[in-house]
Amino acid sequence: MDVEEAIRDRRSIRKWADKPLERETLEDLLDSARLAPSGHNGQRWEIIAVTEPSRLKQLVPMCHNPRHVGAAGAFLFIISDPDSKWIHVDPAIALDHLTLRAHEMGLGTCWIGAFNEGRIRTFLAIPEKRISVIGMTVGYPAETPEPRTRRDLEDLVHWERY
Ligand SMILES: Cc1cc2nc3c(=O)[nH]c(=O)nc-3n(C[C@H](O)[C@H](O)[C@H](O)COP(=O)(O)O)c2cc1C
Repeated sequence: MDVEEAIRDRRSIRKWADKPLERETLEDLLDSARLAPSGHNGQRWEIIAVTEPSRLKQLVPMCHNPRHVGAAGAFLFIISDPDSKWIHVDPAIALDHLTLRAHEMGLGTCWIGAFNEGRIRTFLAIPEKRISVIGMTVGYPAETPEPRTRRDLEDLVHWERY
């Protein structure tokens, strides 16, 4: 699969096959986030990976009740250094790399931006000196969603000036 194909065909996955996500596979996937660029090569983010089925189920009410979170192979939660200039940008790049690599590996992902920050912080034991950025589920897909619409390029791009 080439990059163009991965970008074009990736979808958010919310139905998971009953197939375990091996630790080795997850580590391979996480390495694609590690290799992502960051401002000044600062790499000032960390990921907490939840893989135990009972803990995944506990996350459901903390993420506004999407059952698919409880059935995923893993839930990744990215945290960042509040003193970084690129507090949100670097984690977004890292996880976007991961979504494309996941697709290439036959895995699915879904960004999880809806969560109760306080409950997640306690559950994941996030240190006070780190900020919560966003979550992401990973697993083997059991659906092939149709593409969602996107705005036209001329609506999004301004040549030379706005
Ligand atoms: C920042 C961000 C937050 C998101 N939060 C959620 C979420 O909490 N729950 C969910 O089911 N999908 C979430 N999504 C997935 C989007 O709904 C999805 O990417 C969008 O509808 C486009 O669909 P596609 O990813 O299949 O192309 C989020 C996506 C992004 C980028």
